Amino acid sequence: MLALIVELSGFAAALLFILGLKRMSSPATALRGIVLAGIGMLVAVVASFGYLAMASEAARAHLAVNLGLALLALALGIGWAWRSARTVAMTAMPQMVALYNGMGGGAAAALAAVALVDTHPEGRLALGVTVLGALIGAVSLAGSVIAWAKLDERMRSAWRFRGQGAFNALVLLATLLLGLWLVADAAAPGWGIALFFAGALAFGVLMTLPIGGADMPVVISLYNAFTGLAVALEGYALQNPALMIAGMVVGSAGTLLTVLMAKAMNRSLANVLFSRFGEVKAGAQGEVHGQMKAADAADAAVTMRYAGSVIIVPGYGLAVAQAQAKLYEFVKLLQAAGVDVKFAIHPVAGRMPGHMNVLLAEAGVPYDLIFDMDDINESFASTDVALVIGANDVVNPAARTDKQSPIYGMPILNADQAHQVYVIKRGQGKGYAGVENLLFYGDNCSMVYGDALAVLNTMVQSIKELGA
Ligand code: TAP
Repeated sequence: MLALIVELSGFAAALLFILGLKRMSSPATALRGIVLAGIGMLVAVVASFGYLAMASEAARAHLAVNLGLALLALALGIGWAWRSARTVAMTAMPQMVALYNGMGGGAAAALAAVALVDTHPEGRLALGVTVLGALIGAVSLAGSVIAWAKLDERMRSAWRFRGQGAFNALVLLATLLLGLWLVADAAAPGWGIALFFAGALAFGVLMTLPIGGADMPVVISLYNAFTGLAVALEGYALQNPALMIAGMVVGSAGTLLTVLMAKAMNRSLANVLFSRFGEVKAGAQGEVHGQMKAADAADAAVTMRYAGSVIIVPGYGLAVAQAQAKLYEFVKLLQAAGVDVKFAIHPVAGRMPGHMNVLLAEAGVPYDLIFDMDDINESFASTDVALVIGANDVVNPAARTDKQSPIYGMPILNADQAHQVYVIKRGQGKGYAGVENLLFYGDNCSMVYGDALAVLNTMVQSIKELGA
């Protein structure tokens, strides 16, 4: 009976993960999707105690001894995650995702370590799968911690040294050879296992060190895929279907997201991992002509009030200023005056996938006003005003024309094609890629300097003063 309940729970958990993921594909159903996947995770965690109880006499003995410790670990993990998720700033979300990814990889590697040292998987296939999962999980753990440190500005963005590629390849080769040894010799000594893990962790660090700047989100997503794969492999080694399915779902979702993000930046994955994007070399930028022109917030607001159409391009600065609610208040005033207002979202605007969608959803902006880049880019040319708020790289025309620019080739929002462009930003600060923005120097562009929240406050006030 217990066996049937446990098997069914594994199946139910898998089903809940898939249904949850499906619902996450639309902002309207995403919240329910997250709850469903969370219930699935709860079922999977409870079921894994059942798997252990059924697995073998030795596993039951372990469970009896370690149940208290396992429950304590669960309580600590849940408490910490609950607190940090509630208090994390939206702008620090990528760091948090990086840490969680790393922990998933670390958990898979820890499972493998216990199997290699203690329970000794039987047969070459089980050993091979365990070792491969250990390698991928440990790389993901170490790499994600470095990604977290970079995003949290605790370490320099990109660390490079001469011969780094060859050195990294050597470390990987040595680790792979150690792994092969562990597969070939089930009785390999403990120091061999320790060396293998040290090599895998070192490779994770080394692989992430040279990658910097705007490539970090792609790397985090790649480690997400790695973690899923490692968990699926360890699930296979332990014959735990819930782990296998959860791992495969995470692995394939992570892979898809990695590919989509690389595509959004017009890069290949190899180019992200091995090229030097994110590093702005001296002279790596074409010349900038013209001058930035400042405009008054009130004047800009009045122009928009009497325009026929406005497209708003939100970016990272909107999240920093937490001005989304004020922005929506402004939008409602424009709509009341008969202006056609739309939002244009670049796939890598902000600091994490979907960052701007989440921000606008928080403020209650209806989904039918929000358009993805491909669906709206052609409309800019026939739009009266493009209002760029705290966005920079995602509207930089240098990406189209300047082969020297680190963002060359990244598809951008065609804000420069609108008849008039207003850009709200605090000063002359550069975007994430650290380069000048040619849009700001265009004849049709005016800069409205100030914190986005303060500027939007003034804009709302100005429209209200105009009356109906
Ligand atoms: P960014 O290029 O980062 O530019 C943000 C701009 O906002 C800055 O130029 C800054 O100028 C302005 N700003 C900052 N705080 C502000 C405030 N309180 N009020 C008004 N303006 C403020 O933003 P983006 O256009 O959204 O581009 C995203 C970049 O991040 C891309 O390069 C992308 O590749 C990268 N990236 C994306 C992700 C994902 S997945 N979305 C993750 C990591 C990195 P001032 O300092 O002058 O105000």
